Amino acid sequence: MSRRLARGERLVVASHNKGKLAEIDELLAPLGMDVVSAGALGLAEPDEPAPDFVGNARIKALAAATASGLPALADDSGFCVAALGGAPGVLSARWAGPSRDFGAAMARVNDELAEAIDRRAWFVSVLCLAWPDGHTQTFMGREAGHAVWPPRGANGFGYDAMFVPTGGVKTFGEMSAAEKNASNHRARAFAQILVACFG
Ligand code: IMP
Repeated sequence: MSRRLARGERLVVASHNKGKLAEIDELLAPLGMDVVSAGALGLAEPDEPAPDFVGNARIKALAAATASGLPALADDSGFCVAALGGAPGVLSARWAGPSRDFGAAMARVNDELAEAIDRRAWFVSVLCLAWPDGHTQTFMGREAGHAVWPPRGANGFGYDAMFVPTGGVKTFGEMSAAEKNASNHRARAFAQILVACFG
């Protein structure tokens, strides 16, 4: 049985990633929640030791919910490349190093792909809602497409500039925020959470 959140209820968004925060804020906006970020509450960013998206999303959401005493929403996500066995995947942020250099991370993906003909790639987002008593609910969204080189577009964040969704022409980095939010992995996971947990 899904646990639900009431309209106007206070909700912590357990992310310190500005790109994700902007997208999640936009997805939450129509719901009239009282949204506060983990950063604004001074919450620390937990380590992400789990080997999968679900594990790390739960760690982040539970850490924020227990530290704040409020329900918390976390996203764990990543860019997965078929010819690299799904890498960088859960290590997507780590491939950018401590300086968060996603130009370098994208170049590494391209270097490792080398002459590979198979350019299939996908993004995954796992959203986890956690409550201070330890209850959690997780939802997964996926957006399939292919990796392109060189990167194109200055919008978005992370690996957006080297990903074109199936059937599209523009990279996520060339899309407006509204275009990207209309169809992507995070929005797909959010659509499920919306039905199960909100209102
Ligand atoms: P984490 O969820 O904190 O481990 O970080 C996930 C990383 O995956 C982000 O830092 C981005 O580099 C990448 N990522 C996740 N979602 C997206 C997206 O929508 N566009 C581009 N990169 C993304």
